[in-house]
Amino acid sequence: MYSRIAGTGSHLPEKILTNADIEKLVDTSDEWIRTRTGISERHVVADGETTADLAEHASRKALAAAGVEPGEVDLICVATATPDLVFPNVGTLLQDRLDIHGCPAFSLEAACAGFAYALGVADKFVRLGEAKCALVVGADTLTRIVDWSDRGTCVLFADGAGAVVLKPASEPGIISTHLHADGRYKDLLQYPDGPSRGFHLMREGKAGVRMKGNEVYKIAVNKLGQLVTETLEANGITKDQIDWLIPHQANIRIIEAIAKRLDMPMERVIVTIATHGNTSAASVPLALDTGVRDGRIKRGQLLLLEAFGGGFTWGSALIRY
Ligand code: ACO
Repeated sequence: MYSRIAGTGSHLPEKILTNADIEKLVDTSDEWIRTRTGISERHVVADGETTADLAEHASRKALAAAGVEPGEVDLICVATATPDLVFPNVGTLLQDRLDIHGCPAFSLEAACAGFAYALGVADKFVRLGEAKCALVVGADTLTRIVDWSDRGTCVLFADGAGAVVLKPASEPGIISTHLHADGRYKDLLQYPDGPSRGFHLMREGKAGVRMKGNEVYKIAVNKLGQLVTETLEANGITKDQIDWLIPHQANIRIIEAIAKRLDMPMERVIVTIATHGNTSAASVPLALDTGVRDGRIKRGQLLLLEAFGGGFTWGSALIRY
């Protein structure tokens, strides 16, 4: 038994923040942001708009694309680092909005690699016969936790959600997932506050994402390079067999470095960073849905998804779409 992607969906908040808008907040320039990151604009949530709102829109589109009624869903797994509440988890909030009751619903946190983790977990449920219709979501509102006076991070992050519906299949589907983490790197990229620390930084107005961008960059390129090699070798396939690379959209230069490692022309890489920015756990399913809906990604093609995030966490999935 395998799982396969029956449908995809995504959602971006309406409000757009351009590089010119950010020039008014911090000492930066459109030229610096575009050349160093590839980002021109990004979507940000409006007052009162939350991760669960974005997740709900993306989920409804994925369910419609899969031809599935919400009532058929028997597992909900939401990857997010920016939940609406500490608890109940975003999975249960989403479950309630979809008017489904009783099936397992949870969120998991693996920063920008969250969707790869969620896909890996949900795939196992389906393979083991414990779920017949899994809703897997990556949704984040990182602009809520960014320090808007830190030009090293505030130019990067954005909000959005992407979702897929997994159903059982006799052939893959999700061929393999590869998940890794190394907590030694916890200080290079973090939001250094939380409930068990009493939210003391937040109360003092000193909270915000902290990142040593240059060091993150080098390790991300290195780990993702190893990861794509591991994924190909584990399945005995060669670089030229991949139809589409669907990378985490953190920085165009990281994306190009991984494409180069795979000898893939950029025409076979789904790149959304220019208008999406880094939407964290939403980035990969957003890129996947973009490629599916604009007709580039077709049924039967071989997809390589990869992501890297705070922790560090990193993960990939090889998928026959
Ligand atoms: N505008 C203008 N100048 C800036 C800005 C800005 N927005 N940000 C930094 N600079 C300056 C720095 O202060 C520095 O100036 P200095 O030389 O006078 O000290 C100079 O630009 C170079 O800074 P670097 O940090 O070396 O710039 P770099 O080329 O590395 O680009 C960036 C920074 C874009 C953040 C890059 O390092 C990067 O993309 N890193 C990886 C991000 C990532 O992959 N994150 C992982 C996923 S996110 C998650 O998990 C939540």
